[in-house]
Amino acid sequence: MSSSVLERAALALSGARTVLIVTGAGVSAESGIPTFRGAGGLWEGFRAEELATPGAFADNPERVWRWYRWRRRICLQSEPNPAHLSIAEMEPAFDAFQVATQNVDGLHRQAGSRNIVELHGCIHRSRCTGCGEVRDLPDEIDADDAPLPACRRCGKMLRPHIVWFGETYQPGVLESAQAAAEAADFVLVAGTSASVWPPIAVALHGQRTGAYLVDVNPDTTSLSDRADAHLTGAAGAILPALWERARSLR
Ligand code: APR
Repeated sequence: MSSSVLERAALALSGARTVLIVTGAGVSAESGIPTFRGAGGLWEGFRAEELATPGAFADNPERVWRWYRWRRRICLQSEPNPAHLSIAEMEPAFDAFQVATQNVDGLHRQAGSRNIVELHGCIHRSRCTGCGEVRDLPDEIDADDAPLPACRRCGKMLRPHIVWFGETYQPGVLESAQAAAEAADFVLVAGTSASVWPPIAVALHGQRTGAYLVDVNPDTTSLSDRADAHLTGAAGAILPALWERARSLR
């Protein structure tokens, strides 16, 4: 990546009033949380696409809960990294600022971000398969021999409060990100392979309606060429550098 690409992106950020940040698993990779499609993404030989589906849960809820228990344990042991922290630092500097994250780990909140839309749900919450009640997961769920969790209200099985492959988003969630994209004059996407389309469609909608679009990823994805700037590298290095430079230009 040439320094002029970073400079152009920093200039756009420095002049922005309304910002949308869309994040994916790569933003939490430097916190020690494996990405879905990278090395370490397999669990007991299964890919995410074989576990994060309504069918996988119907066939084997124990296995799906064990996978989430493993992921949740990693999330609970992880700390926000410089990418999360610089995103949180940016927020008060703008008139409007939203983080629309595909991540379910809660690290943006832990870093201090406030206006967060969790597009794919939250690993620390459950939803009842019967009455639909959403609540924080009880700590007992983390024990290796924990029984399948049941709803305290209706007794039906609980499931992770996560959007799985083939499911629709929770009401209002995509609409909120879409509205933020439309209002934004700067949209930054970081750490996503762009394999799940709705968050990418939101970012591209922002670009179509006038925002400068930046993609931060060590690899090239289907979004990289469509972005106004592709900042090649790790989010934990790029985001602090981008914000430091943009702040100095404001
Ligand atoms: N900084 C920035 N990007 C990184 C870093 C890093 N340090 N490390 C890896 N990446 C990039 C990879 O190059 C890859 O493009 O992060 C991306 C991670 O891609 P995925 O594992 O596919 O994660 P994500 O795009 O968030 O997945 C989308 O798929 O399984 C579902 O619902 C799940 O939200 C998830 C969705």
